Amino acid sequence: MSNKSKNKDSNYLSAKESRRITKENRKITRKYEKEISRKNVPESEYATTMRDPQNILEIDDLHTYFFTDQGTVKSVDGVSFDIPRGKTVGVVGESGCGKSVTSLSIMRLLQRPIGQIVGGEIRLNLGDKAIDIAKTPMVEVQNIRGNEISMIFQEPMTTLNPVFRIGTQVDETIKLHNPDMDKEAVKKRSIEMLELVGIANSEGVYDMYPHELSGGMRQRVVIAMALACEPKLIIADEPTTALDVTIQAQILDLFRQLKDRINSSIMLITHDLGVIAEMADYVVVMYAGRIVEKGTLDDIFLHPAHPYTIGLMNSKPSINKTVDRLYSIPGKVPNPIEMPDYCYFRDRCEMCVEKCNGEYPPLHKISDTHYVSCYRFDEEGGKE
Ligand SMILES: Nc1ncnc2c1ncn2[C@@H]1O[C@H](COP(=O)(O)OP(=O)(O)OP(=O)(O)O)[C@@H](O)[C@H]1O
Ligand code: SF4
Ligand SMILES: [Mg+2]
Repeated sequence: MSNKSKNKDSNYLSAKESRRITKENRKITRKYEKEISRKNVPESEYATTMRDPQNILEIDDLHTYFFTDQGTVKSVDGVSFDIPRGKTVGVVGESGCGKSVTSLSIMRLLQRPIGQIVGGEIRLNLGDKAIDIAKTPMVEVQNIRGNEISMIFQEPMTTLNPVFRIGTQVDETIKLHNPDMDKEAVKKRSIEMLELVGIANSEGVYDMYPHELSGGMRQRVVIAMALACEPKLIIADEPTTALDVTIQAQILDLFRQLKDRINSSIMLITHDLGVIAEMADYVVVMYAGRIVEKGTLDDIFLHPAHPYTIGLMNSKPSINKTVDRLYSIPGKVPNPIEMPDYCYFRDRCEMCVEKCNGEYPPLHKISDTHYVSCYRFDEEGGKE
C-alpha cells in the first residue's frame, strides 16, 4: 500500500485496532517508565562530554514520540542543534512541527507516560562536567530546572497560581533554589528580581494577586521567576505571542538586557520571524518533527535554502513591500502518524528536482554554519 493511501485510510481506526494499539503502547511505555523510575542510578550512566565546550546545550539526534491510541506520533524525529554560551537560538516552524515538544524534552516535562524520549542525547554543560539530560534521573533533573535551565511559556498563567500572591510565588522559587536563605533575604531578593524586570512598584506588586496585573506585567513576573537563579539557559516558548506589540517590544528588550547581564543563552521559540530577526544569533527551522535548515541569522534570512524557509521568508510582512495579501505556503503538513518515506515537504514543494522522489533528503552542509536538508543542494542533484 502506498503511503498516500495509508494516510487516507488512517483517518479512521476500528475499535479493535485502537485497542490493539493501546495494549501495545502500554507495553512500550511501561518499559520507558521502568527505566525512568530506577533508583540510585550511578552518575557514570548519564555523565557525558560536550562536543564543543563553548556550547551550553547540544541536542543530538533527539527522538520524542507520543504513543497515542491512534498510533505513534513522532513529534521530534532526529533533531540535532547546538546552543552556544551567551547566544540566542531562534526556533521557527509551522504549528505542530515539534518546537514545544523539543523544549519540553529538554526540561523533561513531557506528558508521561504517553510522551517519551525514545532516542538521542541532550548534553548540558555544567562547567566542570556535562550530563545527558535524556538519561538523567528525575530527582537530578529537578535540580537542573530553575537552577541551570528555566522555561517561560506563552501564557503566564501556566506558571502563576491564581490563588497565591505574587510575592509568595517568587519567594517560593527563590527558596527552592536557596534553601539556606532566611525569610527577609528571600523577600529582598524577590523584590530585587521584580525591579530587575522593570516592575516599577515592585513592593506593591509583591503583595498583589496575578489577576490584579496586566498580561505584560504577569509575563514580567514569570521572567523574574525564571531568572531568579541566573540559569545558564532560558527556554522561552512564544513568550510574547499573548501580548500586544508595544508590550512585546518591551519584553524583548528586557530579554536582551537580562541575557547580557547574566550571560545566559536563550532558546527562543516563535512563529514571528520579526522577533527572530531582532533577537537571534542562530536560527533552526523545523518542519514536521525534523530540522530542515539551520544556520546563522544571516544564513537563514539572507540566503534561505530550503523551499520551506524560502516560503516562510515570503510569508513575512515587510514595510518595503506592497502586497495584496500575505503569501502562505499552499498545502498541509503530512499526517504525523503516517509520515511518508520521502521528503516531508515534497507534496507542497514548488522546486522539486528528480531526486526528490527518493528517500528523505540527508542534511547537506552549505557552509561551516549553514545546513539544509534538501536535494536541491545534494552533490549529485546540484542546486536548482
Ligand atoms: N500530549 C500530546 N499527545 C499527543 N500528541 C502530542 C502531544 N503534545 C504534542 N503532540 C503532537 O506533537 C506534535 C508537535 O507538537 P508541538 O506542540 O511541539 O508543536 P509546536 O511546534 O510547538 O506547535 P505550535 O506552534 O502550535 O505551538 C504535534 O503533532 C502534536 O499534535
Ligand atoms: S528535497 Fe525536493 S521536495 Fe524536498 S524540499 Fe527539497 S526540493 Fe522540495
Ligand atoms: Mg508550541
